[in-house]
Amino acid sequence: MKKVILAYSGGLDTSCAIRWLKERGYEVICFVADLGQGENFPAIKKRALIAGAKKVYIKDLQDEFINDFIMPALKANAVYEGKYFLATALGRPLIAKYLVEIAHKEKATAVAHGCTGKGNDQVRLEVTVGILDPKLEIIAPVRIWEFKSREEEIEYALRFKIPIDVTKKKPYSIDRNLWGISIEAGILEDLEQAPPQDAYLITQDPQRVSNTPKYLEIHFEKGLPKKINGKNYPLKNLIGYLNKVGGQYGIGRSDLLENRLVGIKSREIYEAPAATILYTAHKELESLVLDRELVHFKEMVALKYAELVYYGLWYSKLKEALDAFVESTQEKVTGAVKLKLFKGSCVAVTRKSPYSLYKRELSTYGSEDKFNQKLAEGFIKIWGLPYQK
Ligand code: ARG
Repeated sequence: MKKVILAYSGGLDTSCAIRWLKERGYEVICFVADLGQGENFPAIKKRALIAGAKKVYIKDLQDEFINDFIMPALKANAVYEGKYFLATALGRPLIAKYLVEIAHKEKATAVAHGCTGKGNDQVRLEVTVGILDPKLEIIAPVRIWEFKSREEEIEYALRFKIPIDVTKKKPYSIDRNLWGISIEAGILEDLEQAPPQDAYLITQDPQRVSNTPKYLEIHFEKGLPKKINGKNYPLKNLIGYLNKVGGQYGIGRSDLLENRLVGIKSREIYEAPAATILYTAHKELESLVLDRELVHFKEMVALKYAELVYYGLWYSKLKEALDAFVESTQEKVTGAVKLKLFKGSCVAVTRKSPYSLYKRELSTYGSEDKFNQKLAEGFIKIWGLPYQK
């Protein structure tokens, strides 16, 4: 019997996909990636087995996700279209990597996923699988099956006793992991409506949070966050803590009218408190320790890096080369930035580093001034020379 490894979430689509694949002659092995989405994994496993899966793999990939995907993106300051910290996009190549790995282990000839034909996630998963093992067949049931509506799909689930939760009608499509939450569909599709408060899961309404600011000093070593207010944290706990505190102060919401890879414009909202806080601190520290040209060039790299992640090109030569560049810039990104969290905003209030390039004796307007202002005259003449008529 042909074997397929299905990326399983426990939701309606992938639960129906188990049965649907079986009907097409496949033995279905489910793979659930734990990227910190905080689901009830034993319950998901049970559901997969009842729906007809032969076997279920549940893998806690949180540390790998943080170390090999999130941290490189943070070092690069990669953010898509200025507002999206790529939580969903960063997770997909990792999920694909394990689909392939499990396929090899199980001697499966195919992998499958529950993405629709309209989104980016199908591209990310399939491009990655194609790079890692082009011989694997890729099946995307949601793109091809016959259901014309959610109701039809639910009916199919009921008919075949696939355990699904139809009691609560979900108003949004949500993808969640430890780096952030992506929320789309439902009323969010109406561009003339502000996102309702109930769309947000982990951030408080900035208008309703404490009137007292919260100060956090984030300490970095070679571009990696290590301490908060002097206390060491393993990365997973550090991110968890910042999501919690940031969420309480209304930090990390964004509302983006974005350009999908497949050409569609869509309105999505995001919550990423920890990412917002860490990016802010990391960029501030870079401003202190990197020279001007490097900071400016790195901004261009950040833009490209974000595109590559968004476009599913994590395992591409260019992304690899950019990683090498970014890594080489992080040598001196050591120091601390104190941030003020206040009613949804997060700004730096102090910065320090043993590698600081800031020279107060040059920037000062006070009496300790060591800057030779006379030199400026000649500099300006020569700098402006090419432009004189
Ligand atoms: N638009 C975002 C992205 O392409 C989020 C996608 C959310 N995915 C989902 N299955 N709900 O990365």
